[in-house]
Amino acid sequence: METRVLPPDEEGIAAAAELIRRKATVAFPTETVYGLGADALSSRAVAQVFAAKERPRFDPVIVHVADPDEAAGLWTEVPPQARRLMDRFWPGPLTLVLPRRRRVPPIVTAGLPTVAVRMPSHPVALALLRAAGRPIAAPSANRFGRLSPTHHDDVLAQLRGRIHAVVAGGPTPVGIESTVVSLVEDPPVVLRPGGTPYEALREVIPNLRLAPPAGPSASPGTLPRHYVPAIPLYILEGEAFAGGETVDRAQCGLLAYREAGAGFGRVEVLSPTGNLVEAAARFFAALHRLEGAGVAAIVAEPVPEVGLGIAIMDRLRRAASGRAHVQGRRVVWTR
Ligand code: TXA
Ligand code: MG
Repeated sequence: METRVLPPDEEGIAAAAELIRRKATVAFPTETVYGLGADALSSRAVAQVFAAKERPRFDPVIVHVADPDEAAGLWTEVPPQARRLMDRFWPGPLTLVLPRRRRVPPIVTAGLPTVAVRMPSHPVALALLRAAGRPIAAPSANRFGRLSPTHHDDVLAQLRGRIHAVVAGGPTPVGIESTVVSLVEDPPVVLRPGGTPYEALREVIPNLRLAPPAGPSASPGTLPRHYVPAIPLYILEGEAFAGGETVDRAQCGLLAYREAGAGFGRVEVLSPTGNLVEAAARFFAALHRLEGAGVAAIVAEPVPEVGLGIAIMDRLRRAASGRAHVQGRRVVWTR
């Protein structure tokens, strides 16, 4: 199929909405990453999203809504904690998991009795939701397990010819996926750290827990290996370890937090001022560039695990094949 590239204006959004109503697949920008959308209440439409992404059917998708009332129409009830979280953080990068109504098809939830819902803040996403007049199921618009797209060019690189259209909205401002919170468990739990900081959520739900990293969990997007770049990635450690493989720095791309290291084949600095919001916004784009830089591997500096740093480190650990340390002009890595 030919993938249409639509402008992010009134006409382009109207065309995208018409495609959604006709059960086609449309990628669109949200404030976090691009989503690959389809009519959430149509199994046939959502099946095409799974096919385009080569996503396994056991991985449920997030349903996007235009307002909290539309969310309430997908859940069996809206408990007070959900109401408070929506009041404070919607529209924005927060996804809430609650028991689903029967009208949500099982393909959306991978057969789970719950459905994950969020109201995005990106003006193009909101305009599309309103014009389509129905909830839109949308996982990130990448092939399953690969890097999330933060620009429409990334979407086209992975999905051109496999989807009906993309709304070309340019770079996405937050850059990392939404925080997924399950309110089905008591106390509530963060299934996936993301664009809404854990600390801010705790102000509303003081007993909110973080799911143990990379463990088996109710959220399949938290598979231990996920967000993998096309070349191996190793997380840098300050201290040396025994064994491993030694290569010249020039063969490595460095994903640096604040300062560029010398002698690497390519360097991407996430935030010279140490701003984790800026680092998150640049994170996937930097990995995409390092992937394409012709280096043998990526070595990544850890970032502080506070605020959006929790989400960045979550993605880095899932992307990593192992760990590395720097030894003079060389890098040593091990799986
Ligand atoms: O920011 C985002 O959340 C982006 C944009 C497009 O909205 N979407 C996104 O979707 O990242 P996806 O499909 O790549 O990740 C959805 C996450 C996965 O970890 C999935 O397992 C989890 O949400 N999820 C979806 N439904 C769930 C449910 N009913 N229970 C538990 N986890 C669920
Ligand atoms: Mg994804």
